[in-house]
Amino acid sequence: MTADAEPAPISAEQREREDELVQRVLASFADTPDARLEQIMRSAVLHLHDFLRDVRLTEEEWKQGIDFLTAVGHITDQRRQEFILLSDTLGASMQTIAINNEAYADATEATVFGPFFVDDAPHVECGGDIAGGATGQACWVEGTVRDTDGRPVAGARIEVWEADEDGFYDVQYDDGRTAGRAHLFSDDDGGYRFWAVTPTPYPIPHDGPVGAMLAATHRSPMRASHLHFMVTAPGLRTLVTHIFVRGDDLLSSDSVFGVKESLVKDFVEQPADAATPDGRDLGGRTWSRTRFDIVLAPAGS
Ligand SMILES: [Fe+2]
Repeated sequence: MTADAEPAPISAEQREREDELVQRVLASFADTPDARLEQIMRSAVLHLHDFLRDVRLTEEEWKQGIDFLTAVGHITDQRRQEFILLSDTLGASMQTIAINNEAYADATEATVFGPFFVDDAPHVECGGDIAGGATGQACWVEGTVRDTDGRPVAGARIEVWEADEDGFYDVQYDDGRTAGRAHLFSDDDGGYRFWAVTPTPYPIPHDGPVGAMLAATHRSPMRASHLHFMVTAPGLRTLVTHIFVRGDDLLSSDSVFGVKESLVKDFVEQPADAATPDGRDLGGRTWSRTRFDIVLAPAGS
């Protein structure tokens, strides 16, 4: 059955009973003091009932849905956020981001926040290493932060976080490590630079109910290789985004619909004997480098 299949025919009396229930539920919100809350609740109820009626949901399927959401709640804790994974894999996160980050001049595009950001990541100086012991090929990342008038933004706070070469974020290990995440500030010219590890593809956690949903629908849990950024500066719109690796096979099938062409960057492989930008000795190993010039929209745009 496809989403646009003809609904099963129902009698006029049946339709009337169902309509009457929808109207009663909508009316129950009439005394909501907060007009925005009333709007959201009424719309959510309307769409929920439309969905139930559209697919003619069986009572057994309704129970399966309740069990699924219960499981999403049970596996969620301080470190595992299954509700964000659910939102991400249904495209709801990207849709919310699209609504709230309207295109503005040449401002850098936003993408999903994801479940692995941690407050209070360590500070590194511009040019420092955010890997903090995360395994992987060393990667030099540099760029500028500017506003949409092209003015450099000094002192922008740049949070970066990423998985290691095995595809795991630090918080997915049980040893309490902090690795592959840090924050730094752009310099007086709006420039920034740091060492990280070259991003590699990884599956979103798929040992829980969201993974079961992906398996049941023959969808892959894999995310295209990426490096997360969150950039904040006074008077400018906070940017939450990633950069992706040009040439990655997964760019067209990212499990959370996060890829945008403008965020796909060249990560250029460097031979083992290539001099590093800051003279760092990498012990004869290859490394990569990329550039990401960030443009922030005005706050409130
Ligand atoms: Fe990620």
